[in-house]
Amino acid sequence: MAKEYGHYDDAAREYVITDPCTPWPWINYLGTEDFFGLISNTAGGYSFCKDARFRRITRYRYNGVPMDAGGRYFYIKDGDTVWNPGWKPCKTPLDFYECRHGMNYTSIEGRKDGITAKVLFFVPLKTWAEVQKLTLTNTTDVVKKLKLFSFQEWCLWNASTDMENFQRNFSTGEVEIDGSVIYHKTEYKERRNHYAYYSVNVPVQGFDTDRESFLGLYNGFDAPQVVLEGKPRGSVAHGWSPIASHYLEIELKPGESRDLIFILGYVENAQDDKWESKGVINKRMARETMSRLDTPVKVDAEFRKLNEYWDNLLSIFNVESGDERMDRTVNIWNQYQCMITFCFSRSASFFESGIGRGMGFRDSNQDLIGFVHQIPERARERIIDIASTQFADGGCYHQYQPLTKRGNDGIGGGFNDDPMWLIFGVCGYLRETGDFSILDEPVPFDNVPGSEKSLFEHLTISFDHVINNLGPHGLPLIGRADWNDCLNLNCFSNDPDESFQTTENKTEGSKAESLMIAGLFVFSGRDYVELCRQLGKNAEADRAQRHIDDMIAAVEKYGWDGNWFLRAYDYYGRKVGSHENEEGQIFIESNGWCAMAGIGLKEGLCDKALDSVKERLDSEHGIVLNNPAFTRYYIEYGEISSYPAGYKENAGIFCHNNPWVMIGETVRGNGKAAMEYWRKICPAYIEDQTLHKVEPYVYSQMLAGKDAFRPGEGKNSWLTGTAAWNWYTNTQFILGIKPTYNGLEIDPCISPDMKEYKITRKFRGATYQIEIKNPNGSMRGIKSLIVEGKEITGNLIPLFAEGSKVHVTAILQ
Ligand code: GLC
Ligand code: GLC
Repeated sequence: MAKEYGHYDDAAREYVITDPCTPWPWINYLGTEDFFGLISNTAGGYSFCKDARFRRITRYRYNGVPMDAGGRYFYIKDGDTVWNPGWKPCKTPLDFYECRHGMNYTSIEGRKDGITAKVLFFVPLKTWAEVQKLTLTNTTDVVKKLKLFSFQEWCLWNASTDMENFQRNFSTGEVEIDGSVIYHKTEYKERRNHYAYYSVNVPVQGFDTDRESFLGLYNGFDAPQVVLEGKPRGSVAHGWSPIASHYLEIELKPGESRDLIFILGYVENAQDDKWESKGVINKRMARETMSRLDTPVKVDAEFRKLNEYWDNLLSIFNVESGDERMDRTVNIWNQYQCMITFCFSRSASFFESGIGRGMGFRDSNQDLIGFVHQIPERARERIIDIASTQFADGGCYHQYQPLTKRGNDGIGGGFNDDPMWLIFGVCGYLRETGDFSILDEPVPFDNVPGSEKSLFEHLTISFDHVINNLGPHGLPLIGRADWNDCLNLNCFSNDPDESFQTTENKTEGSKAESLMIAGLFVFSGRDYVELCRQLGKNAEADRAQRHIDDMIAAVEKYGWDGNWFLRAYDYYGRKVGSHENEEGQIFIESNGWCAMAGIGLKEGLCDKALDSVKERLDSEHGIVLNNPAFTRYYIEYGEISSYPAGYKENAGIFCHNNPWVMIGETVRGNGKAAMEYWRKICPAYIEDQTLHKVEPYVYSQMLAGKDAFRPGEGKNSWLTGTAAWNWYTNTQFILGIKPTYNGLEIDPCISPDMKEYKITRKFRGATYQIEIKNPNGSMRGIKSLIVEGKEITGNLIPLFAEGSKVHVTAILQ
């Protein structure tokens, strides 16, 4: 039996970690809308409001030694023993340790020498603050006198300059102390209108706000001198590194329990309302928040609201499949991860620093597909934000900053897959909601006021951007890159000091074409055609269909390599992803997308391509991106060949794109293969947690591929398109519940051994209780569909009135 570090508690919707020494910090996310925190299983991590870079509240050191140092620490001094509920940072052996990661909350419990310390961390709904409810219990039969020290280290707001501009930073730090509240107000007197605070709901016996006084210059978080001495210094930070630490003396009778409520909060004040008196910050809003949360009863009520919020979100889609691993993935953790990726895109995780990328154009459109059923209003707003960064010719800024919502000049545009993702995202939104009004919204180009055109027109120019940028074979020009950011066919970089992602490209005169974009164009182009028909724009639909037909013909003529689809043509017009190549003969993206689009299905091309994927790309842990892996640098391919073989885009198992092949398998009706591929990358099925390394409850972007040193090792967990793609594939193509403009289409494609399952799906205000029966062990094809006791022809459940409860039975052939 492989070593286990924890297990699922499905009834509580929690993952329970029982050993603090996980193979990597296993984290969770706090917060639902503006105020967020990342928290590890040993209480590490940090907090921010709205933007992980510009409004960072607490400091975090990346890639530190030891890993994951700094965070929300409570030090308990019991006689001469100092320990922490989450084991770190003192690492004093505990008698019991447990961390429960749940839906936007984490609770960590430690026990030592008869004292139990349990901390519940969460951000109440609509609140700019994190609650830390600490419950101390004396389980012995003697009176216990404890000394308790809290600890948070402030970040000087801009997480990027915080790490580098020390000649300034060491002089700017300012705090205010008011009773049990420590306020962090660095730069508030000049251009900032925000401050942060850390409070506790009882009087304190002391405090510290200066890091050096608290820790001692030569000590780490594991041995703060103040804690070792058992005496706070009452330090007031002037520059250097401000922190917040409360000191409490606590006496607990035998059996007694005490709750303490700590609040880590953030406030923005209006310009003319910043001060209480000269130099004294206006604390009104902080006090309001603290008084809303100053008793255990109030905190527990807020916690219940958060749980109800999740009850509600997770009630929209629910499967009972008979396989608990599938159920927990689909019903709980995958939906949760989709919400997190929607909120954070690729910004803040233990692999993304929160100071790098903004919101990706393609990433955010894909994330939307996993989230739109949960809170469609937020998806709507996101679509408008994304579309507003498009250029008038249909090209797009590749990223935008969440705080300003402006396109990011650093990276610019020219990724030629981007426009099609807008069609993909918008059609997903429309099918879920039926909210066609969004198509009439005036949306600017590059955020320039006055440039507005309707969202529908944005879709048209997105579609046209592909056909206006075709290469010599009538296939889409790739531009800087398509979905694979690392296949840089126009980059030709030989300077290690430039980034593949931002350097100038030589697209002028390039012949580099992408078969991945071709597949995406056919797949999402059909969505566009269907939408036009839905709107009665038949001439436009016909026009678009002709371009799609031309694209299919071009792929069949120039994109077929004999046994699989080519990946691309390079700058010079030479084949990429062909048996003629020395390395990188076959790629997942083009084969996935062309199969999804059913190109050459009748002629057997899809079958051949999928069989080749199975033969050449599949492995024990999932489907690798390309094969053979690149073993040297190819200047004409760029970053892809920069990675060691088996990692990332160079033959790693990119979990994001495995679903494309799964959908491809459903297109040819092979539910067995689709589900087998899925189980390989789905964390709930992964047995060896030590090898997998990262969190066992969320998908990771990548597992090391078959050519890597340690195949199957996970990296880049949490923030990845993998979440949305697996959700979309599982629910719509495997379990087969597809939202359409006119109802729910039932079209499962499953493993023959799945004999029956039930799904509850809330859709446009009605609740559908769907029972799928597969008595003959088939993989696909509805024989009969009974809706509210009546058999109907076809496989579309029509729309029912809001509030209806609809019973459906579907029987497979
Ligand atoms: C990363 C990026 C995504 C890209 C993928 C493949 O996950 O966020 O935009 O498509 O890598 O390169
Ligand atoms: C990298 C990664 C890729 C990511 C890109 C954009 O090179 O390999 O996954 O999408 O950077 O940041």
